[in-house]
Order: sequence, then structure tokens, then C-alpha cells
Amino acid sequence: MTERLRVENLYKVFSKSPDPALRMLAAGAKKADVLAKTGMVVGLNDVSLSVPSGAIYMVMGLSGSGKSTLARCINRLNEPSAGRILLDGRDIVAAGEAELRDIRRKRISMVFQHFALLPNRTVAENTEFGLKLQGVSPQARRRRAEEVLSIVGLARWGNHYPHELSGGMRQRVGLARALATDADVLIMDEAFSALDPLIRTEMQDELLRLQRTLKKTILFITHDFQEALKLGTRIAIMADGELVREGTPQSIVLEPGSDYVAAFTREVDRSRLFDARWAMTPVQPVPLAAGLCLAETGDGGGLVLDDGGHVVGALDSETLRGLRETSGRGIGSLGALRKDFVTVRECDSLLDAARAHRAGRPMAVVDEEGRLTGTLAADRILAGIAAAPSHPAGGLHA
Ligand SMILES: Nc1ncnc2c1ncn2[C@@H]1O[C@H](COP(=O)(O)OP(=O)(O)OP(=O)(O)O)[C@@H](O)[C@H]1O
Ligand SMILES: [Mg+2]
Repeated sequence: MTERLRVENLYKVFSKSPDPALRMLAAGAKKADVLAKTGMVVGLNDVSLSVPSGAIYMVMGLSGSGKSTLARCINRLNEPSAGRILLDGRDIVAAGEAELRDIRRKRISMVFQHFALLPNRTVAENTEFGLKLQGVSPQARRRRAEEVLSIVGLARWGNHYPHELSGGMRQRVGLARALATDADVLIMDEAFSALDPLIRTEMQDELLRLQRTLKKTILFITHDFQEALKLGTRIAIMADGELVREGTPQSIVLEPGSDYVAAFTREVDRSRLFDARWAMTPVQPVPLAAGLCLAETGDGGGLVLDDGGHVVGALDSETLRGLRETSGRGIGSLGALRKDFVTVRECDSLLDAARAHRAGRPMAVVDEEGRLTGTLAADRILAGIAAAPSHPAGGLHA
């Protein structure tokens, strides 16, 4: 995937003359050292990260760890003290006034925790606000507002006022406003944190659904690790202004790397986080008879595949042994094949796999085209769900 946004060695010290603090940080000092010695607050300490185009990139950490400072540096609501922020290769930190205005209006949109809607403007007027700043004509603005309001499920609410809306609906307006300008980067700072748990879950699902077609590059700030796991293609974890861990949700749960990160991962529901592909044993089919291949299931039996790699049936160990003794003759009619095998997709969660499991029946794992890629035994499902930090062989590649 191409890189949309790149942060390089970014520092933020809240001071008009940050140089002494920056020198200390460069020499390895921590946020607390700098505060004790100079009285200056460190917001960011040497943060580097790379956000691929189309990713939902989660920035997660405890309160005060620097998440909002990072978000605010990216569109320079906070002025970075040192470092570079590259948007499609152009350094935002070096941008002049005019370019910066252009970036804020057209390239990067923000969605805030408390919606920041104008109370005496209608939903439609709030939605088209950014377009007005861009000088778009009233008719075109209104058309676009109606379009994005319908995308976020508020088609008939344009003429209402924010106080007539629930919190969830207000946040939909916030999202619509960010989408209206067609900026390709969205920064969402705790966008769902003020919502009731049920509405919050609904908005998360909605964002995932929208993102499948919108394919924006989203930097999503949260202090909720579950939210980070659910939404994130990658997660960056911050502590005291530093980025302490970065990776896919699965890789972070498997290898937290520090007690600070491990503490977040303890309560994670692995049965939903890990998929069948991760726990399966990959198959290596071998020719069985004309037009047919055999993939062993590890229990003495096997799955029989056609030319296209699709499972046509299963053989128990006894039948398979018999067939081997006759070099495959006798399979001709396929009458010996059992049809009671279970199929799951690679992308199905281990929870789904556990639910699909039936004692004594082999489980086939298939790719998007329905071709067999692996088998999944009950003990592998269990091991995956209970997963010790060192994962089963043949597992995740993150
Ligand atoms: N304008 C400011 N002036 C001085 N210090 C600031 C300013 N803004 C943030 N800070 C400090 O920078 C550090 C990081 O704050 P930031 O708001 O980025 O944290 P956060 O991770 O977003 O926290 P939260 O989860 O509470 O929103 C904190 O120590 C904070 O006190
Ligand atoms: Mg914050």
C-alpha cells in the first residue's frame, strides 16, 4: 500500500524556547526529566510513524500520553518543535500560510469528541461549513451536504438544529462535515468517546461500513484498546509522549513487548480477534486419483479436492488406508467420500470456527474463492483462543 502520511522524528515541547528541552530529549532524557529540570512539558518525544493510504490507523494511550498533541501537530493546530510530517511526500511542517490553509480545507479533516457544531446553524449549514470556506457556490454546497448527510444516515435532518439531535446523530453530523470537503485524510480525536456504549458500537460499525467504500486514510485517536482493536488496521501505542509499540492488532496482542502494553491486552477476546487462517494448519495436497487430490487432516484421514482446489468430500482414516493399499482404485464413483465435513472461511473468527466445529468431522478452511487452504482441528481452535503470547507454528504473519 502506498504511504499517505508519514511522521518523522516529531517533537513537541510546550514552550516558546524549547531548545534546552530538545537537547535533553536528544540525549535520551524522558518527559519527567525534562519537566523536573526545565519546567517544560513534553507533548511528543521523537515520534515516527507511517500511515498507509486507506488505513484506519489507531493512536492509543492513556490520558496525557500525547495523542491529541500528535493529531493537532498534523494539521499544525499545535506547532511542532522539531521533525517532519509528510503528506504525500510534502512536509506540512514547512508549509507556508497559504498552503497550510489549503491543507486544512481540502486535504485533512478533523472530527472532534464534542462534535464542535455551531448551535445556531442547521445540520445542513454545519455540514457545508467547510465548503463555504472553500468558496463553493450555495447550490453546490447544499447538494454536497445532502449527499454526505444521506451517507451518514441523516437524509431528512438537514433543516433541524443540533440541539434537536441525539449525541450519536450529532457525531454523524461531525462526520458528514468532515466528509463534505472530500479530504482524503480524516483525523478523528476520541470521536466516539462521548457516546453511550451502544451508540458507540453502532458508530464503530458504521465507520467500518463507510470505510469499505470511502477508503479514506483515517488517523483515529482513542484511549480505548478494544476500540483500537476493532477499528484499526494498525495501532500505535503512546506513553509519555513516546510511541512505545506499533503494529497490527494481532501482533500487539501476541507480543505486547512491555508491561504497559501488556496491561491493555489482558482482557482481549482472542476468539474474535484471531481468524481461522491464523490458527489453521496449511494443507499440501498430493495427487490421489485422476482429477483428484488429497489433503491430509492430521488424524489419519483427509479431504479430497477437485482440479480447482475445492473440497468434494472427506475420507476417514480407515477408508484412506484402504484406498492407499489399492493405489486409489475404488474411489472412482466417489461413493467412499463423506460429505459431513465442516467448512469455514479463512477470515472467520475463531469464535465462528468453534461454533461450526462438530466432533468427529474434519474442518476445511477455504479462501475467498472457496479453495481449500488449511484444516483446523479443535485443539488448534482452543489453543488460538487461549493463546499464550507465542503463537502456534504456521500462524500469524504481521
Ligand atoms: N497547550 C498546552 N500547553 C501545555 N501543555 C500541554 C498543552 N496541550 C497538551 N499539553 C500537555 O501535553 C501532554 C499530552 O497531552 P495530550 O492532550 O496530547 O494527551 P492525550 O493523550 O490526548 O490525553 P487525553 O486522553 O486526556 O485526551 C500532557 O502532558 C499535557 O499536559
Ligand atoms: Mg486527547
